[in-house]
Amino acid sequence: MITKVSVIGAGAVGSMLSFHLFSRLSLSELAIVDIAGDLAKGVSLDIEDSRAFFNSSTKVEGTDDFCSIKDSDIIVITAGVARKEGMSRLDLLKINAKVAKDVSTSIKKHAKNCIVITVTNPLDLITYIVHKETGFSRNRVIGMGSLLDSVRLLNVLYKESNMSTASFEAFVFGLHNNAMIVSENHIRIKGEKAGKFLSRDAIKRIQEKTAHRGGEIISYLKNRSANFAPSFSVFKLIKTIAEDSNEIIPVSVLLSGEYGLSDVCVGVPCVINKTGIAKIIEVELTNDEKEKLASVKEEFKQLKELA
Ligand SMILES: NC(=O)c1ccc[n+]([C@@H]2O[C@H](COP(=O)([O-])OP(=O)(O)OC[C@H]3O[C@@H](n4cnc5c(N)ncnc54)[C@H](O)[C@@H]3O)[C@@H](O)[C@H]2O)c1
Repeated sequence: MITKVSVIGAGAVGSMLSFHLFSRLSLSELAIVDIAGDLAKGVSLDIEDSRAFFNSSTKVEGTDDFCSIKDSDIIVITAGVARKEGMSRLDLLKINAKVAKDVSTSIKKHAKNCIVITVTNPLDLITYIVHKETGFSRNRVIGMGSLLDSVRLLNVLYKESNMSTASFEAFVFGLHNNAMIVSENHIRIKGEKAGKFLSRDAIKRIQEKTAHRGGEIISYLKNRSANFAPSFSVFKLIKTIAEDSNEIIPVSVLLSGEYGLSDVCVGVPCVINKTGIAKIIEVELTNDEKEKLASVKEEFKQLKELA
């Protein structure tokens, strides 16, 4: 049973996620931790002031002290630097890899049985670092990236086709960066192939728009990155774990031979339940997609060297 969740990082994503958790889940405890002085304290007081609206009895603690994550069932890492305009996810690597290592040490010390959800970018490498530094089994280290990319795809599909999002079944996989794989074969509209309803040009546009959505948002926000859809994507993962609902969700996970890849974290569809990642699903890929996924190995090698 999920009774305590901790959110590390009380910035844009962490604070919004904390509000979703407070207002929509019946937790006993919610801890929010940030190294920036009293920031987490301020966020926690603001969130708990909405208590009467939700008739919530969740205890909320905001602090810069990592001891407060003790015995959490789930810990979410949103700590680090967010991508700014002109900055690639790789630019973030050096700073955020160090943050991930420090946070992992605290997690190992205070909550050795928890499930960790990583959000900090570059997502797949941070997921890998957290897996290595905590020593947790791969079912307990879940990277949230492809879920966000997938809901972005659903929105782009909606806008391009003028059909309700409930008509679509579609997911994105691969790395959580511009090289993500938006597979036409894995877009279904009421069970039919996308090509039945959409022109080739439209499908190409949908793939392009989805892959560049994060960058497009940053180009308008300038000094911060997206937070509404990302925080709700994390909330959705936590709800799935809490409800033990065995839903298939694309998440970044350490592969050990699946899809012909090993020792890399990458987004693939997985069954999510109270154990975290219960099963990795291997879907059929085209030769092009197989090649694209195989190139993750090379990209990951470079990333590991940089980190
Ligand atoms: N995976 C995704 O789909 C996705 C989506 C959006 C954002 N992100 C990433 O999530 C991260 C957070 O984004 P944001 O917009 O909330 O950033 P933000 O700058 O608003 O917040 C980050 C917070 O982390 C805190 N922090 C830094 N180092 C810390 C440490 N060692 N311990 C505790 N707290 C620490 C900072 O003080 C800051 O308050 C970024 O890396 C961003 O790129 C990922």
